[in-house]
Amino acid sequence: MPRQSSASALGGSVVDGEVNDLATLTHLDEAVMLRQMKTRYQRDVIYTYVGDILVAINPFKQLKIYDRESVTKYKRTKKALLPPHIYAIADAAYSTMVDSGKNQCCVISGESGAGKTESTKLLINQVIELCPTKTTMGLEQKIIQVNPLLEAFGNAQTVMNDNSSRFGKYIQLKFKGGQVLGAKINEYLLEKSRVVSQSVGEENFHIFYYMFAGLSKEEMQQYRLTNADSYRYLSQGESCLRKRRKECQDAFNDLVNAMDLVGFTEENQNNMFQVMSIVLNMGNIEFNEGANDSSSVKTFDSLKTTAELVGIEPKVLESFLTTHETMTAGEVITINLTKQKAEDARDAMAKALYGRVFSWIINRVNSLLAPQDDSQRGDSTQIGILDIFGFEHFEKNSFEQCCINVANEQLQFFFNEHIFKWEQEEYRKEGIDFKEIVYLDNKPLLSLFLEKPIGLFSLLDEESRFPKATDLSFVGKLNQHFGKLEHYVASKDSRTPHFVVKHYAGEVKYDGDGFLEKNRDSLPSGAVELLQISKNDLIHDIFMATLTRTGTMALKSRRGRSRKTRNRLQAAGRVSRTAGKGTSLKGVTVSAQFKNSLTVLMEKMNQCNPHFIRCIKPNMGKRPNDFQDDFVIAQLRYTGMLETTRIRREGFAIRPDFNEFVNRFKHLAPLKIGQDANGARKILQAADIKGYHIGKTKVFLKYFHIDQLTDKLERIHKAATMWQKVLRGHVDRRRVKKLREKAKQEKQQVADFLVQLPSNLVNTSKRMQAIMAADFKRPHDYFKAKAKAKEPAKPLIALNDMPPPLPPLADEKFPRDDDEDDDDDEDEFDENDEVKPMPISKKHGAKFGREGTKAASVRWFKETQAKSGAKNEEGNFQDWFHGIITRRRAEQLLTNKDIGAFLVRVSESRFGYSLSFRVATRVKHFMIDQTMSGKYIVVGEPKVHKSLHDLVVYHQRCGIGDEHELLSVPCGQDSGDDEDEFDYADLMDHGGEQALMFRSPSSTSSIGQSPNMRRRVHSGHHRPVSTHSAQHQQFPSGTQSRGGTGSRGYAAGPPDPGYRQQHMMYPDEDPRNRRHATNPPPMFSAPKLPGQRLGPGGGSPHMPQRMHSNSSVGQGQMRSARSPRSTARNEAPPPLPPR
Ligand SMILES: Nc1ncnc2c1ncn2[C@@H]1O[C@H](COP(=O)(O)OP(=O)(O)O)[C@@H](O)[C@H]1O
Ligand SMILES: [Mg+2]
Repeated sequence: MPRQSSASALGGSVVDGEVNDLATLTHLDEAVMLRQMKTRYQRDVIYTYVGDILVAINPFKQLKIYDRESVTKYKRTKKALLPPHIYAIADAAYSTMVDSGKNQCCVISGESGAGKTESTKLLINQVIELCPTKTTMGLEQKIIQVNPLLEAFGNAQTVMNDNSSRFGKYIQLKFKGGQVLGAKINEYLLEKSRVVSQSVGEENFHIFYYMFAGLSKEEMQQYRLTNADSYRYLSQGESCLRKRRKECQDAFNDLVNAMDLVGFTEENQNNMFQVMSIVLNMGNIEFNEGANDSSSVKTFDSLKTTAELVGIEPKVLESFLTTHETMTAGEVITINLTKQKAEDARDAMAKALYGRVFSWIINRVNSLLAPQDDSQRGDSTQIGILDIFGFEHFEKNSFEQCCINVANEQLQFFFNEHIFKWEQEEYRKEGIDFKEIVYLDNKPLLSLFLEKPIGLFSLLDEESRFPKATDLSFVGKLNQHFGKLEHYVASKDSRTPHFVVKHYAGEVKYDGDGFLEKNRDSLPSGAVELLQISKNDLIHDIFMATLTRTGTMALKSRRGRSRKTRNRLQAAGRVSRTAGKGTSLKGVTVSAQFKNSLTVLMEKMNQCNPHFIRCIKPNMGKRPNDFQDDFVIAQLRYTGMLETTRIRREGFAIRPDFNEFVNRFKHLAPLKIGQDANGARKILQAADIKGYHIGKTKVFLKYFHIDQLTDKLERIHKAATMWQKVLRGHVDRRRVKKLREKAKQEKQQVADFLVQLPSNLVNTSKRMQAIMAADFKRPHDYFKAKAKAKEPAKPLIALNDMPPPLPPLADEKFPRDDDEDDDDDEDEFDENDEVKPMPISKKHGAKFGREGTKAASVRWFKETQAKSGAKNEEGNFQDWFHGIITRRRAEQLLTNKDIGAFLVRVSESRFGYSLSFRVATRVKHFMIDQTMSGKYIVVGEPKVHKSLHDLVVYHQRCGIGDEHELLSVPCGQDSGDDEDEFDYADLMDHGGEQALMFRSPSSTSSIGQSPNMRRRVHSGHHRPVSTHSAQHQQFPSGTQSRGGTGSRGYAAGPPDPGYRQQHMMYPDEDPRNRRHATNPPPMFSAPKLPGQRLGPGGGSPHMPQRMHSNSSVGQGQMRSARSPRSTARNEAPPPLPPR
């Protein structure tokens, strides 16, 4: 019977007797568990919790639980308030990462077809959704779009699953401050054998079918492809296409879109398709049996096509496939290969080509998704998501199934360690009273495969090194070593290489036939060198690369051999087959690579906080609404779900040490507390948590306690934030009021000062002349006598003669009443647009001039954008096309237009476009980026377009952004009919320059200046070009934006007099001369004659210096000189008063 409280505690809609969390059941056995799952499944409720673990049953039909509403509902919310969902796991992983700063991993397990890959996609999408803002370069879309790419090349239809992943992957999403930075994918063991043969009812990798459905006739010819039925490697080519041609066609389009979006160039894509064609054509090379165990090529056409595509002589390829060369005692010995061996050599080359292209794709994706800024990698955190191939048990199980099942065995071991072993060990260590829960430990099974030196893989490696060993001799060794083990059953018939392993998930009968060859994975001698000289750059690169000990590809950064060398070698038609410089790591077998990669994976995952998702398959037939009790109970049993539920119900899933716990929740305690048991207890008591335990070094919490604690903490934080807000508002308002008053006073003082200045100066000048005249009249030794008497020097100018001191300038941060400057050129996207500006693409270098200047943008447009679709077929610009206009200008143009009115404009700040369109309440702006393949995309959208025209047409049908807003009518130009007056005139092939020079004020203007001197004038902010503008260019930018004049890129009007008054400086007040102020030079080194005109640099050097040293005026002005605002050294001094 379920506990009464369960439904209310766990929120969501549950019907009578049903629970969202099996760990809340008081009575628990297999039957109860199954009934719970079944009734929920029958109501299309596929998710159930077992404590913090999610169980997901594959519905095999689309459910409406992944819509926008759900996406939003599960953002940063408490798990208990909503029905179980995979989005809640995404939220838990993300929140824990952000809150604790620790790496997280999500482990998704289940049989083949149970829903792991779908769950992975949903998880990634939701984690990306949780990031606070969408960031640079549409990274989120790229991460999401990697999937169709990986699936096209790595998935295939099997009897278990129509979209079965034939490789394992661990995707690491990297974050900083909760914002996604990049991603990295690790791949595990692609099932390459599928390239050359498939079991009955199964298909080759999707990509082959997609190509036949999606390539145009011309492209098919270009890649030398005919029809799907003509290729041996596609066992059921046409029949498969007949069934799902449309589906494959769409998938092909999605694939190309994904490649464009992620950043694969046109050349990359061409090369990839070409390799796929080489693989298929190679498969059609068949052999005749010859005399003396020799063989010869039977199908010359295929040999020729393959050789031509690779870029080598057909004869050379033939000799590689039908003979083997070795070097013995300095002599080259050629050995003929039998028909069987020649076929093996062909298949090995095809598999190597496909496998390396796949690794290269992963490599390329990783470099395209790597965090942009190296400095950011340091303190980033991660969420890793593991989606490996599920447990498999076919009629015939080969080496691949063996590896796949070992990986699943390892994963089950990881689960057991986290859920049962380590947890119960901690109870013991920490003295927690706990009734032990027995679970099925699969360690012996793992040892059977992985132990050294006597484990299945070690024995396989050993046998692989003996040339004379056979699959039968290998299985014989297994029988000899493992015959008596509980989990191993030797075949009764010793003439067949069969054996049975009792895996945690069931018994699997393996057929050892082919184990040795698959493990060696050897290529014909010299094949690597041969493929290195391919004219296809991709083939060249992937065969120049080295393979690491985990089997991943390490590409050479520089091209190994230049095109020229390759051409020469191709022309010579011969490659050394015995040089043995193959770049595959000699001696590292497939099983060794697999073992190594598994070890690395486990090391990575053991450093993360895990979240588990258990996928369950309801039936074998991929059918919706069909829950087969026996089938499901078997899965629940072997995954240890009953025991898991028990440990979640009775145990303590969360076990932070005192330090960590007190640090995170200290604000819940009323007073200062220590980072010890006592401190932890105080927190728990204050938060009213029930049922916890305090151990020797740790706190033992139930999985739901963490939600309760976080909830309470959030409430306190919210309250604190509110208080801070109120308090800060109060303090700030007082500060601003004071500053305003002060500024007002300053302004008045400055005005008074300036009014008095002329008369004061006249007075001062008169007194100076009087003093000087008096000095001239004094007897000759008067000054000497004064100096001797050490009389303090009287100020020559009375203080009250001076104008009042200038007040120090108000704080720089003082809020001004005048509007912020309309610097709307660079800043294309505001926060409301949810897309931040992306770093300017570096791909063009300085080819068009300095990026970010108008001249460069014009050149870029004219030289690269001929096919952009900005012009219609008649060669005129489209109605929606505008030139280099600002965001603000676009807003002006669109403001009074209908909703959906739009325009595309050329950016000045980067080589690209922006899309502006009118929505109900404002004008929105989106960036349009160009992919590496030269196509166009609205940043943040998933669809790539061949031209701007296509992009516009598409978005007139399909909405943009979360609100799915559509473009409607183009926003035309507001000038007359004269094209030269349109804002795109600069971009026209003729007279653009001229148009730029003589432009109506309403568009863009600067008269009679060189293009470099031109200043753009915003129509709404037009100011006459003034002679002062040059001076104002030199103000620091902070000054410009406040002053409202002389803004970057705009023609500056005469400066605001108030502004100038505040910032006037005498030359000697230049901070460079400050030492004079504290250490004045001798007074009258060369007295000036009365009436002598003061020099242009600020008059007599003496007077101002004296003013500095003896009056507070100088000091006041010195202070102002220190302000960044007053660094305008070229500012002219005030005119001297008339005498
Ligand atoms: N949550 C889901 N909603 C709808 N269909 C699903 C869901 N999960 C899986 N499926 C269906 O099951 C198929 C197999 O799922 P997949 O994730 O590829 O299995 P696995 O990766 O475990 O082998 C998918 O192609 C899809 O048709
Ligand atoms: Mg899968």
